Parts: sequence; C-alpha cells; structure tokens
Amino acid sequence: MYERHDPSFASLSGKRQVRRIAQICAFTLLVFLGLKTATARAETGAATIRFDVATRVFRIDAADTSYVFGVNENQQLQSLYWGKRLGANDSFPTAKAMPESAAFDPPITTTPHEFVGWGVGLYVEPDLKITFPDGNRDLVLKYVSHRIDGNQLDIVMKDISREVYVTLQYQVDAETGILRRSAEIENRTDAPFTIEQVEAATWNLPRGTDYRLRYLTGRWAAEWNVQEQPVHPGKTVLESRRGTTGAQNNPWFAIDHVGDSDQDSGEAWFGALGWSGSWQLAVEQDQLQQVRVTGGFNPFDFGYRLQKGEHFQTPYFYGGYSSHGIGGASRMMHRFEIDSLLPHAPTPKLRPVLYNSWEATEFRVDEAGQMALAEKAASLGVERFVMDDGWFGQRKDDHAGLGDWYVNPQKFPHGLKPLIDKVHSLGMDFGLWVEPEMVNPNSDLYRKHPDWVLNFSGRPRSEGRNQLVLNLARPDVRAYVYGFLDKLLNENDIAFLKWDYNRNWSEPGWPAVAPEDQKKVYVDFIRNLYSILAELRAKHPNVEIESCSGGGSRVDLGIMKLTDEVWPSDNTDAYDRLLIQDGFTYAYTPGIMMAWVTDSPTWVNNRTLSLEYRFLSSMQGSLGIGANLNKWTPDDFATAKKMVAQYKSIRETVQRGSLYRLITPENNSEQSVTESVSRDGKQAVAFAFLHSSRERYPFPRIYLRGLDANANYRIAPLDGKLAKDTPASASGAYWMHRGVDVELRGDFQAAAFTLERTGGAAGN
Ligand code: DGJ
Repeated sequence: MYERHDPSFASLSGKRQVRRIAQICAFTLLVFLGLKTATARAETGAATIRFDVATRVFRIDAADTSYVFGVNENQQLQSLYWGKRLGANDSFPTAKAMPESAAFDPPITTTPHEFVGWGVGLYVEPDLKITFPDGNRDLVLKYVSHRIDGNQLDIVMKDISREVYVTLQYQVDAETGILRRSAEIENRTDAPFTIEQVEAATWNLPRGTDYRLRYLTGRWAAEWNVQEQPVHPGKTVLESRRGTTGAQNNPWFAIDHVGDSDQDSGEAWFGALGWSGSWQLAVEQDQLQQVRVTGGFNPFDFGYRLQKGEHFQTPYFYGGYSSHGIGGASRMMHRFEIDSLLPHAPTPKLRPVLYNSWEATEFRVDEAGQMALAEKAASLGVERFVMDDGWFGQRKDDHAGLGDWYVNPQKFPHGLKPLIDKVHSLGMDFGLWVEPEMVNPNSDLYRKHPDWVLNFSGRPRSEGRNQLVLNLARPDVRAYVYGFLDKLLNENDIAFLKWDYNRNWSEPGWPAVAPEDQKKVYVDFIRNLYSILAELRAKHPNVEIESCSGGGSRVDLGIMKLTDEVWPSDNTDAYDRLLIQDGFTYAYTPGIMMAWVTDSPTWVNNRTLSLEYRFLSSMQGSLGIGANLNKWTPDDFATAKKMVAQYKSIRETVQRGSLYRLITPENNSEQSVTESVSRDGKQAVAFAFLHSSRERYPFPRIYLRGLDANANYRIAPLDGKLAKDTPASASGAYWMHRGVDVELRGDFQAAAFTLERTGGAAGN
C-alpha cells in the first residue's frame, strides 16, 4: 500500500504541518473508501503525490492521469507509467533496470530514466553533461532523498563521487493533470565546472512502435504549420538555435497512436517548454523501442560555468496526457494556460477589441492622423487603440531610430499626451508599440554604446532589418531597457505595450566577460528579459503586454507567464489565417491569439475577401482591427459595427471555452469548421469556411460536439446562412447527431451561428 512519505515533516511550519495532517487524513479516508472515493477526488480536481516506502515507487495522480516512476536497484529514477488514471489501490513492483541485452546496449542507455547524466555508456540524449576542471566528464546521478509538499515533489540526486547535486522538481496541476518538470543543479565541489548540456526533463512514453509525432513549423508570415510523422527508430530534433523561440519550430510536441485520426478520441501525450531562448526537444525511439522526449536548453554552442556554491535552474517542461485525442490535448493545454499560467490566471481579463495602426499607416504616424483613426475605431465599438511603430526617435522607416525611445517631436510636437487624452475621451484605452531589445546602427544609442550589442570582437556585425540585437545579458543594457520602459509608463497613461522583436541573433558574442563565460549569454539574456517583464508588471500592474516577434516567433509557455496576449503572424490574410490559427491552437489558447481584420485585397497575396469573411475568420480568436479605416465606406462601418457587437456577445466563449476542430483546414481541405463551447455550457458558437465549392456539392453537415445531449439549445445565425429547414430550437443530441446545414456555395464563403442553452432538459 502507498503511504505518504515525507522525511522533512518536522521541519515544516505549524501551518504547513496542519495542512500536511489534513492531507494525510484525506489520504487515509481515501484508502478506506476505496476506488469510488478516489474517482470522486479526481472529479473535484484533487491531486495526490505518494511514495511507497517498500517498493520505492512514486505515484502522481491528478484529473484523468497517473504518472509513476521508481528508484531502481542502481538508485536511478526509472519511468514506470504515464497515462490514464489507474485505480487508487493499484500497486507497482520496484523498478528494475533493463538487463544488458548486448554489450552494445548497456542498461544505462536502454532503461527509461527520468533524468540521466552523461556517464557510463549513455548513447541516448543526456539530461545533464558536465566537464570538470580536471577533464573528467563522467556523471552518474543517484537518488538521495525526496520531499513531498502538496502538489510539489522534489527529488535530490547526486553524482556517485563528486559533490554535484541535482534536484528534480515536479509540480502537478490538479485540474488537468499537467505536470511541470524542471531541475536545479548545484555545485558543491570546490571548483567551478561547466555545464555543457542541461535539459529540464525527459518524458518516457509507454514502449511502442505505432506512434505519430505532431509538431509545429513555420517561417515569417507562415507560422504554425502542423506536421505529422511516424515516430521511427532514431531521433527527431526540434529546435531553435536563434537565441529566441523562433517560428521554424515551436517548443511543443504531441504524440498519439498512428491510425487515431479522430480529433477527440484516442490517447495523446503532449508537452511544451517554457523557455524563450535557444531550445531543443529530442524525440527518440531507442534500440528497444522506448520512446522518450528530452527537452530544455539547446546544447548547441551551450556552456554555463557554474561557480562553487552556485545553483542553476532549468526552464520548465510541461507535459500532459489526454484520453480524448489531440483535440482533448489542446483543450487541456488551453485550460491550463488560462487557469494556471497567464499573468492573471485563473482569471485573466478578456481581451479587449483593439485597433492597431500598423497596416494603415506603417511608419507614417502623427498626432492628427492617429486621432482621426482613433475616432473611426471608437465608432465601431473598439476598446483599445494601439499606435504601432514609428512614433519615436528619428524613425521614418526601418533604417533608424531603434534604441532612441523619446517621442519624435516632429510627429508629436506636444508629446503623446494629446493623443492619449483623445483616445481616452473616445472611451478607449491606449497602447503603444516598442521593440526594446533592438538598436539601429543609425541611432544615438548605438553611436554612444557600440559595445552594447551582441558581437564577437573584431568581427562583422550582421544586420537584419537594418538592426542589431542589444546584449540584454549585460547589466548596463538591462538597466537601460528597464529604465526607458519604466519612464515611458510613468510619464504616459499607457494600458498596453506591444513588445516586438524583429530578428534573431547573429555573432552571439559577449566580449566584456571572460571567454569561459561568454556562452552564458544564451541563458542570462532571457533571464533578464523575464526579469524586466516581471519588474515592469509589478510596478505597473494595470499595464498589459503583447509578445510579438515579427509575427509569431516568440510564443512559448515562458513568455506567456509574463504577457497577456501574443501576435501569431504578420500574415493577416483571413483565408491564410484559418490554417495559421488552426496550428496555433494545437498548443496555445485562442484567448491570447490576436486576430486583426485588415484590408482587402491583402498585402500578403492580393486576395479579395468580403468584410464578413474577414471578421468571421478573426472572431475565432481575440478580435482586432488593423485596416485603414480612412478607406472604408459607410457600409463597411455598418457591417463592422454589427460584427464587433456580435463578437462581444460570444467573446467569452471563444476566449475561454472549449475548442473543437470539427473540420480542420490542414492538408488543403476545402472547408474548415471550428466550434467553441462556453465553460458554463450555456453557449456554443461555430464558424464555417468554404474555400471553393465544386460541382454543386453542399457544404458538409456540421456535427457539433461538447453539448449536453439532454438540454435544449436555440440556434441563431450570425449572418443568415443556416439552411431554411433548420429548427429554431432542438436538443444537444439533435445538434450533435443530426447536425446543422449551412448554405455555403462559391469561393471564400463563411458562416457562423450560435447555440444558446434555453434551460431544462430537451423537449421542455
Ligand atoms: C512586426 C510586427 O509583427 C508588425 O505587426 C508591426 O508591429 C511591425 N513589426 C512594426 O515594425
């Protein structure tokens, strides 16, 4: 039988002891009442972490998930199970390392470890690799002790001879069963050593060969493509070497069984890293068909010298399990992000409808022009007016000004105050674009501090978009960046910053520090970014921040903890956006996914789309408007006003609800349909898009999901395209099994409708 085991109970404070006793009582009750009670606890969102003293097995249970691992005969931590929640009384035998199946495949390599050092003969991805000053590079970590505190488990491991300690940190989210894993390395030797590779965690899946990997790839203006491939023997590496998250790969993965093509059924394991610098996820199937995913800092060009007595913390690697397919996995991620991760979790504010000036004016911003746009935006029901690039320094185009964060006196002779006051008088709050980590060589800042950028001494400094990257790892750069932002927010009534980052790194040198410490830039830069964001938020608690990186190049669970929303792509073509938004939502909630309605034909590909289509595409996320309102007709204003009002009536459902991909736009599908169901189950909204119809085929019938079969729902079109024989009201069972027909024919057509629960059981 499992028991709670906490060697350090006596060291807890009185309040925590009381909590611990309550936990033990609850657990004892659980054992007495058996499985029935255990299920009830899962339903109420309880999480338990247990350690069986006799078998030395750890077991973490939460929501629908059990995660089990043990200390094996080699004192190493070995994975035993990760999947659907097991019976409360199920027990596991002591973990046993894999036997040597051949001299070529030693147990250290074939045993599924939780966290393994590079030593002995490890041929799979290590979690930790260290070079000591004497040239020794062998590291063998063994279990020392552990501590359970509520939903947190810490396990201390130590090298067999050297004073290198690693604390593995596990935290479980009671509501979703998502685990947060990380590691802390401590140097208790009497000399510095260099960490050459350190990962946050390794996730081991049940042994198997029928797995499919999903991951996200992209590039500027084409982010968030969902890729699928079988997990083969060998290794697939997803990574960024760019110094930042990047769009080429996003630090997210999901693995399910080949053949489970249904979105909402089957098993899926998934994970995402909370790190906005260079990162790596290695998905490996070893010689004995063990599948593992190891993730954390990218070991490429990595090196962190840890001084005697210093600690080093890895980022968090989150992982979860869904028995409701890949759709269930993303719903779980969305729920976790909203309830546990975002800055104001569990009650992040709904995203206001915003207007952004970028596509309308680009760098040509000035007081009169912005005021005129603000008036027009306000008439549509917009709640936030954001002035984009161009307001500062000598910024006329992208060749100058970055780094000089004073208000341009020609464009805004009286500062920002008149514009901000005007925006406020129109009933909106005010937001401003910044790109704090960058500098143009043509700027006062660069002329004064040419040594502040990433560079290798005496080597060229490669520009991207005519700009260089400030080395935020430097304390003086950090102080400058924090200082100007704090001043900007002190002096102006700003509610929102759009924080942009328009290139990746080149020549990532840091000549001001010792050669052995220069690679610390990969870590210290991002830590300073996070600390600036955290400090600004603490000092200006009402200011919201958007993470933008020339589109969606910096979206991950690390930056998400410190920002309220993200910009997924510069591609604002409403048709392209269907695919972009679909991919985005595999990993991230639509509640932070900004989606602007922009002009037609689009700058992206010259496609012409109706204003209704553009609105319905954007209404699947957090709605914004980025069009040049000076060119709109009265009819456009009337349509937009109506649709903004409609969006407000469904916004909570879209931003907080459960998302179902009824037809995905992947693989060049002619149609796509999404559905969101509100948390309280009272409202559902569906969006349907047709690329082009063929041979008079009707649009596929839409079978809704996630409704209460026994409740009644009234249907209402957002745009009058429901089939004429659609009943005004029917049961959830009817809408889910008989389905809904919409009249869509032609090219680039869209429809949307809502279902409102009218209360009571079906037929009442
Ligand atoms: C890139 C962003 O993604 C755009 O929305 C815009 O803010 C420009 N930068 C401004 O330079």
